[in-house]
Amino acid sequence: MNSTKSVTIKKISHGLSAELSFPGDKSLSHRAIIFGSLAEGESHFTNVSTGGDCVCTRKAFEAMGVKIESDKGGAELRIKGKGLQLEKPKSELYLGNSGTSMRLLLGVLAGQNFEATLTGDPSLSSRPMRRATDHLKRMGASFEGRDNANFAPIKVKGGKLKGIDAELPISSAQVKSAILLAGLYAEGTTSVTEPAKSRDHTERFLKYFGASIEEKGLTVSVKGGQTLKARKVEIAGDISSAAFFMAMAALVPSSAISFKGVLWNPTRNGIAKILRRMGIPVEGQDASKFFDNGLEPTADFHLSPLPLKAFEINKEELPSLIDEIPILTVLATQANGTSVIHDADELRVKETDRIRSMVSQLSKMGAGIKAQGNTLIIEGRPTAPLHGAKVDSFKDHRTAMSLIVAGMIAEGETVIQDVDCIHTSFPDFFKFLTKIGVY
Ligand code: S3P
Repeated sequence: MNSTKSVTIKKISHGLSAELSFPGDKSLSHRAIIFGSLAEGESHFTNVSTGGDCVCTRKAFEAMGVKIESDKGGAELRIKGKGLQLEKPKSELYLGNSGTSMRLLLGVLAGQNFEATLTGDPSLSSRPMRRATDHLKRMGASFEGRDNANFAPIKVKGGKLKGIDAELPISSAQVKSAILLAGLYAEGTTSVTEPAKSRDHTERFLKYFGASIEEKGLTVSVKGGQTLKARKVEIAGDISSAAFFMAMAALVPSSAISFKGVLWNPTRNGIAKILRRMGIPVEGQDASKFFDNGLEPTADFHLSPLPLKAFEINKEELPSLIDEIPILTVLATQANGTSVIHDADELRVKETDRIRSMVSQLSKMGAGIKAQGNTLIIEGRPTAPLHGAKVDSFKDHRTAMSLIVAGMIAEGETVIQDVDCIHTSFPDFFKFLTKIGVY
C-alpha cells in the first residue's frame, strides 16, 4: 500500500486501539548523523529515522569520507567520526526534499577547507536559504547560487570563519543550528538570538557531545575550537509522526491508543498543549512515565476521544508545533467553535505552502477553513463530518498524512493523491495504520 501513488481511505466505523512506539525523531536523527560524523571516535545510534530526508544526510556525510555501518534497515548506525574536518566530496551532494539537511550542511560546509555544491528536489530548490547563507557570509564563508545564494543549487566555499552575533528575524531551528555548527569552526564566540525559542536539539547535542555552550534567555553562544566526543544514543520516538496518531485517537469515536517513548522536549510538544486546550488530557509529564536519557526526554501517555473545544494558537507558540499545523487544522474542523492559528507565515515556505494546501484541500472535503493573510481560521462542525473528495498532497508528507486522517473521519471515500512523499519522514506510516486496524 505504501508504494502507491494514491490511496483511498474510507470513513472508520470502529474504534482504533493499539500501543505504539515510533521510529526515531527526524530532527534528532539528522543531528545524530551530523554530530556522529563530526565527533572523534565511534558513535552508536539506535532507532534512527530511516526516512528519505535522514538518508540524504547520511549519504552526504558518507560522500565526505565518513564511514557509517548500518544495520536494521538503517535504524542502527555506527559512525566513525572524522572530527570537524571532512573530505571534499567527488560530486554534488543531493539532499532530496530535506530542508534540515541543506540548512545544517550549509553551516558545516562553511567551516571546511574545500568547495562543495548542495542540490535538492524542486521543492527544496524553491525554499529560501539566504536566511542561513547571509549570516554564514558574515562569518567568512562564500556562496554561489540563484538570487544571491538564496536557492539551491548552492556552491559553498568554506573559509576561515570568525564569530558573529546573529539576530534572527524569524525563529528557525535550522538557521540557528547552521550558525552554531559554523561557530564550532570560528575564531571567537558565535551567538544566535531568536524572537521565540525554536527546537533546541542542536544545543542539547552540542552539550551531550562534550562542547560547552552558554544559553541566556533567547540567546545561545558557542566558542570556536571545541571538539566533539563520540556518544551512544537511542533516538526518541518522533513526536511529529506520533501527532497523526494522537489526532486519530482524539477524532475516531471509541478509540484508545497508548503511546510509548515519544520525544517530550518542551520546544517540540506544543501539540500536547493544544490537545489539552481542546479538552483532551495528555499526561506526558507524569514522573513515572517520563524518562530523560541525558540528551532528550520521552513520555508515555494514553489518548481517547472527548468532545473537542476550539483553540487559538499565537505566534510565540508556533515554533513548538510548527510541523503539526496541518494536522491541527484537521482537528479544528471537528471542534466546537472557531479555531484561529495566528500569523503562521512560516508555513508558506515549508515543503509546500501548507496554508494553501490545507485550506484548498480541506475545503474540498466540506470544511469551513480560510486564510486571512497568514492567519488560519477554521470553523468547527462537531456534528457534521467532512465528506470524501479527491484531494492532493502537493507532494508534501505532512499534508498527505493530515489528509489521510481527514479521510478517516469523512463520510464516504477520500482519494489522496501523491502519497509517496510520506517516505521522507515516516516510511512505515501505512504499516502503523495496519497496526491500529485501519487496513
Ligand atoms: C527542523 C526545524 C523546523 C521544522 C523542520 C525540522 C529541524 O524548521 O519545521 O521540519 O530539525 O531543525 P525551522 O527551521 O522553521 O525551525
